[in-house]
Amino acid sequence: MKEFKLELEKRTREVENIIYRYLPRETGYQKTIFQAMNYSMKAGGKRLRPMLMQEVCRLFGGSVELAEPFMAAIEMIHTSSLIHDDLPCMDNDEYRRGKKSTWAAYGEDMGVLAGDALIVYAFETACRAFFLSRQPERVGEAIRILAVKTGIYGMIGGQTVDVELAGQPIPKEKLDFIYRLKTGALLEASMMIGAVLGGADEESVKRVERAASRIGVAFQIQDDILDVTSSQEVLGKPVLSDEKNCKTTYVTLEGLKKAREDVAAISQEALQEIQALPGKNIFLEELVTMLVTREK
Ligand code: IPE
Ligand code: IPE
Ligand code: MG
Ligand code: MG
Ligand code: MG
Repeated sequence: MKEFKLELEKRTREVENIIYRYLPRETGYQKTIFQAMNYSMKAGGKRLRPMLMQEVCRLFGGSVELAEPFMAAIEMIHTSSLIHDDLPCMDNDEYRRGKKSTWAAYGEDMGVLAGDALIVYAFETACRAFFLSRQPERVGEAIRILAVKTGIYGMIGGQTVDVELAGQPIPKEKLDFIYRLKTGALLEASMMIGAVLGGADEESVKRVERAASRIGVAFQIQDDILDVTSSQEVLGKPVLSDEKNCKTTYVTLEGLKKAREDVAAISQEALQEIQALPGKNIFLEELVTMLVTREK
């Protein structure tokens, strides 16, 4: 366990170094947008999505170098979703990753623009993989997945229903839909892109998508749990945000005990899918197992 934690820290730094190489330089008349983009990108975070991408790519024996622009891209899209999620018109939260939220530090106008900028710059960055690969069709497919899972059939679609239904009771099926899209979709993109760039066949990519979807739902339930059981010092973002926004969550619907049991059960389903893949990655299995008991 201690060994895994040390390894996780080491790999987080490695992933972070890769991401940093793709951030824009803060010069020019529009430098405020570069600063606002980099402010949240450099504030920390677990770097879970690029790490999962890299590990799935490794599982299939792919070149991690090819995945690097996509690792930066997925973290940019994830960060953009957090910047917008914190805006006063959305969850209205003033802290993120242990610092003032982007809108609180740079103003709402720059918060909106920084989120937009990171989404678009993510695709600009991902396109750099065309220069690293002799298989442009794989890069093209990865970009398609990134777009679908970010957009109206993915994260943005999920956030739409989440925001629209604040203050209202939500039946379980609809809450599952929200979690699969708002959180699951970007995890699906992360792992599917790792698989595609690693050279996985179609059936394996589908299996990876199922595993990632389960990881995403478990991850969001755990996020809801931490919102009521943790502290701002540990999370780096406000607690009781869901209550403040009168959100129906997995915890309000099922209670803490069942929520905890379901995180473990759903993660186990994900692990079984991963173990059925044609390839092995012990670190990836440990990472998915760790998410069940994560404290931040
Ligand atoms: C937070 O994601 C938003 C959710 C989808 C629950 P993370 O918990 O991965 O946030 P960072 O990247 O570590 O800050
Ligand atoms: C976030 O859900 C999902 C996103 C796509 C950003 P939350 O609103 O619960 O995320 P946190 O708790 O603010 O990180
Ligand atoms: Mg939200
Ligand atoms: Mg929020
Ligand atoms: Mg939350």
